[in-house]
Amino acid sequence: MPARALNFGAGPSALPESVLRQAGEGLLNFQDTGIGIAEISHRSKEFKTYLQGVESDIRKLLKVPNSHAILFTQGGGSAQFSAVVLNMLARHHERYPALEPEQRVMDYVITGSWSDKATKEARRLGGGTVNVVADSRKFSAQGKFDNIPSHKNDAYKFSKNPVLIYYCANETVDGVEFAREEGNETSFPFHLLPEDSPLVGDYSSSFMSHPIPRLQNHAIIYAGVQKNLGPAGLTVLIVRKDCIVDVDKAAQNGAIPIPLCTAYRTLADHQSLYNTPPVLSIYISGLVLRQMMLEFGEDAMEKYAALSASKSAKVYDALKRGEQKGVFKSKVRNDSGSQMNVVFDVVGEGKLDQFIAGTEARNMKGLRGHRSVGGVRVSLYNAISESQVQTLVDYMIEFVEAESAVAQ
Ligand SMILES: Cc1ncc(COP(=O)(O)O)c(C=O)c1O
Repeated sequence: MPARALNFGAGPSALPESVLRQAGEGLLNFQDTGIGIAEISHRSKEFKTYLQGVESDIRKLLKVPNSHAILFTQGGGSAQFSAVVLNMLARHHERYPALEPEQRVMDYVITGSWSDKATKEARRLGGGTVNVVADSRKFSAQGKFDNIPSHKNDAYKFSKNPVLIYYCANETVDGVEFAREEGNETSFPFHLLPEDSPLVGDYSSSFMSHPIPRLQNHAIIYAGVQKNLGPAGLTVLIVRKDCIVDVDKAAQNGAIPIPLCTAYRTLADHQSLYNTPPVLSIYISGLVLRQMMLEFGEDAMEKYAALSASKSAKVYDALKRGEQKGVFKSKVRNDSGSQMNVVFDVVGEGKLDQFIAGTEARNMKGLRGHRSVGGVRVSLYNAISESQVQTLVDYMIEFVEAESAVAQ
């Protein structure tokens, strides 16, 4: 087998090698049943117990209160663009039965390609109207998703009694992230929210890499697991229990009917086993959670947050050095850079290809930016170690020095 590459891909992405080896064993023999995980019934007592363990680990690690259910489903983040709208519209119908669709307002904060896509899906589904609370392109000199709007610019205009208030914590494509410390100008403006806000957060690309600020104040948090936690296939939902509503009753009262598998009520009533779940993805995610627990205990999120801050700081430092020498150019504003996905351009004709060729020659993979924005994207999920980051940073500096020597 060739040496394993240093995989800086944006997702699916690197997983801990020790977990992959363990998973190999589980593929042949799950929990001493003599049956592999990809072959065993999801209704077997062994799998049901395993699923409960996964839920319990997420609850402990993220400190999810009992007011919230943890549900498992498929369809990725994209299916949730629709599911959050349909479930929250049903809830709004339950609470305010007499309103017209124009009066059912869905507040969207747009800071990048993923929240933009989610907004478009809400508009497409109808049943309510979309209010754009803030659009970060308005705060960009180039009209790009290159920043998180500051609280100070009066950037956020929330509605009264909205169906939902939607944001994406980390924009994987554009490389901007709400600051994780409250009080920071580019954190999510929790303090501006009306009381009892039905807040929905897409945490797909930073899930299980840090404590979620004000988790208990969210109506829904969702994440596909394929960045920090496991293989693609599983979506984790953290849903406040008052948002799990009788969607059929709501439909009788005029709400959009909801496909059964998309309704949070169906998932909750069947302990996420209404239909066959993504067994393998649940299994490997469970192994990763166990490893986090073993390594760092119940405070693992704080530990991963510290690691993540340190890894990204190293890359941003190298990027800054490259900017000073005119070799690199950050794609995002200084105060808005993501700790998970660092994005930048390599200045000069053909230089991007040269930079990428150098990474590949050193067995580093997955560093090209998303096809919609180009450039370089360095994804620094949990399974990327500090020493792997150092290998990349050493190369970045070597590249900067070589390029600036040529330019002189
Ligand atoms: C922040 C974010 N939201 C949503 C999605 C869509 O997820 P999926 O491809 O699982 O549908 C992605 C995918 O990378 C993402 O990064």
